[in-house]
Amino acid sequence: MKPSILVARAIFPEVLAQLQQVFDVDHNQADRVMSPDELRASLQGKAGALTTGSERIDSALLAACPDLRVVANMAVGYNNFDVDAMTKAGVLATNTPDVLTETTADFGFALLMATARRVTESEHYLRAGRWTQWSYDMFAGAEVHGSTLGVIGMGRIGQGIARRAAHGFGMQVLYHNRSRLGPELEAQCKARYVDKATLLREADHVVLVVPYSAQSHHTIGAQELAQMKPTATLVNIARGGIVDDAALAKALQDRRIAAAGLDVFEGEPNVHPELLKVPNVVLTPHIASATVKTRMAMAQLAADNLMDWLLHGRTRTPLNPEVCRD
Ligand code: 8YV
Repeated sequence: MKPSILVARAIFPEVLAQLQQVFDVDHNQADRVMSPDELRASLQGKAGALTTGSERIDSALLAACPDLRVVANMAVGYNNFDVDAMTKAGVLATNTPDVLTETTADFGFALLMATARRVTESEHYLRAGRWTQWSYDMFAGAEVHGSTLGVIGMGRIGQGIARRAAHGFGMQVLYHNRSRLGPELEAQCKARYVDKATLLREADHVVLVVPYSAQSHHTIGAQELAQMKPTATLVNIARGGIVDDAALAKALQDRRIAAAGLDVFEGEPNVHPELLKVPNVVLTPHIASATVKTRMAMAQLAADNLMDWLLHGRTRTPLNPEVCRD
């Protein structure tokens, strides 16, 4: 008998077909986001699940799903998982690191440039038929090349952004992270470790790439925004909740900082209504990893994680490898 799994959201049909060859698959190609009750009901009798950021796996759910042995998140971030609870329940948790690093770093840089150079604001102006003549300061933005970048969260994606900035755009790179990188990585990224206050004070552009946790909640709030240069820009490609969106909307309205670029939001897909009103913010719907190639690689890695563990007792990218040793 094939093991039963749930694929909680729509995925590429070819990856689903692979899973259907070896598992009894309950899928959701209609892509309707499930409520916690629906998720719990759908997981009954399932040995595995493929999830995205929209499915919360916590102790209450695990207690109600005793057959579950693995949950493979199609994301590098896993703040929708209570990993400790999964470990206690003997459920393997996996994510999709590495395959999205460069693509996500590309997008972080795209958002930085769009924000600094006012790309969407000026496009809206043009589309609204308001462009009647050239003028010397029309949509004059902030310089990117040669400026100072501050990266908060210097994991793989943060390093990718730092490399692009230092080697491609001749930027000075400052970074802040829980731990300092080794000298070799610092040299590769041409990045200098500083405390958060120094980074906020000196950076012309700040990019957030820190994982979400209780500790990183509101890494940027009113107090931090007040420390930034009034000409600075802020980019969040990390997670909603890293930035206090209400405080950011206020800072943008008051021109406390020049502009922001946001791919993630507190309570997404809802966006703070005040952010929707301000012109000096570039808003994108959580697409930093969204190239066809990368999303395919993420889906494949999540599927491989399920197949490896349930069919062969092996793991690829485990978050709680201790489960495998039990
Ligand atoms: C995912 C992301 O596409 O990998 C992550 O952590 O934020 C995105 O790449 C999204 O979380 C859906 O799972």
